[in-house]
Amino acid sequence: MNIVRRPRRNRNTNSIREMVAETHLSCSQLIHPLFIQEGTKVKTEISSMPDFFRFSPDLALKDLEECLKLGIQNFILFPQIEEKFKDKKASLSYKKNNLYLKMIQSIKKNFPEATIITDVAMDPYSSDGHDGYVENGKILNDETLPILGKMALAQAEAGADILGPSDMMDGRVGYIRDVLDKNGFTDVAIMSYTAKYASSFYGPFRDALGSAPKAGDKKTYQMDFRNAKEAILEAELDFNEGADYLMVKPALTYLDIIQSLKQNFPIPIVAYNVSGEYAMIKAASKLGWLDETKAMVESLLSIKRAGADIIITYFAKNYAKLKLV
Ligand code: PBG
Repeated sequence: MNIVRRPRRNRNTNSIREMVAETHLSCSQLIHPLFIQEGTKVKTEISSMPDFFRFSPDLALKDLEECLKLGIQNFILFPQIEEKFKDKKASLSYKKNNLYLKMIQSIKKNFPEATIITDVAMDPYSSDGHDGYVENGKILNDETLPILGKMALAQAEAGADILGPSDMMDGRVGYIRDVLDKNGFTDVAIMSYTAKYASSFYGPFRDALGSAPKAGDKKTYQMDFRNAKEAILEAELDFNEGADYLMVKPALTYLDIIQSLKQNFPIPIVAYNVSGEYAMIKAASKLGWLDETKAMVESLLSIKRAGADIIITYFAKNYAKLKLV
């Protein structure tokens, strides 16, 4: 056969494939989520997230230390709050010395080299289970911003490096930036959940933290999965309001959105490989239907190939253990 161009030549051996590979993912680009709860020596496996745990602060520090040894240095924290401490205004979220703020302080004290990324949203603390303030079944935008501002300030005071508003209220990045700057926290960065879709893939996370909405859904603030242009609008707003990172969430069903933000905005793009995406691979591999490690590596590298600079994933430790790069 006279075939001049044979793409298979560049796939001939493992070393050639390694040499021509376009996409690499290093542990420095991964963020490990830490789910925390009150208590000591508590380690609870999340039933819908096999091999992933919620820890009391002492064991969360151990988990973090294990990550550091594996080369993972960036962490995003989420709290589970007992129902009796929740109220309509999520007031525990900014109360001095709450579980979350104490955790930030103790990580910073014990492991100053670790980057701490927070979650700024009302849902773990809200008796309504919504990310914003609810009145007569409506999630009120402008009434939510001062609450988010107080939460953000408390997290910055506790020593957080990067704040992650995940609430999808309009104007929150600018509002939080202003609060931080007025209080001297000009160095604290904002990783905005910019294109956060109303997704069924958050189910296991809500199980893990008991943070599901008590009534209704999140469709008036999280985005409609049928829309792509809206992601550009959200990104323009967040960029202009001072976001330092733009996040797309979930990741695997939104690779087009990741690519479009990567092409249009000159700041790091983060993808959140969410709980449901983790659960799917875990479930299929438990049934013997998929090779867990191969499916994980393929998913993470695809997210990277689409344009994510940074990936938040429950697989961070598993990936690091492979020592691929
Ligand atoms: C809430 C929040 C959610 C996640 C991160 N922050 C859930 C939601 O919006 O209901 C989901 C993460 C995951 O599923 O892994 N502010």
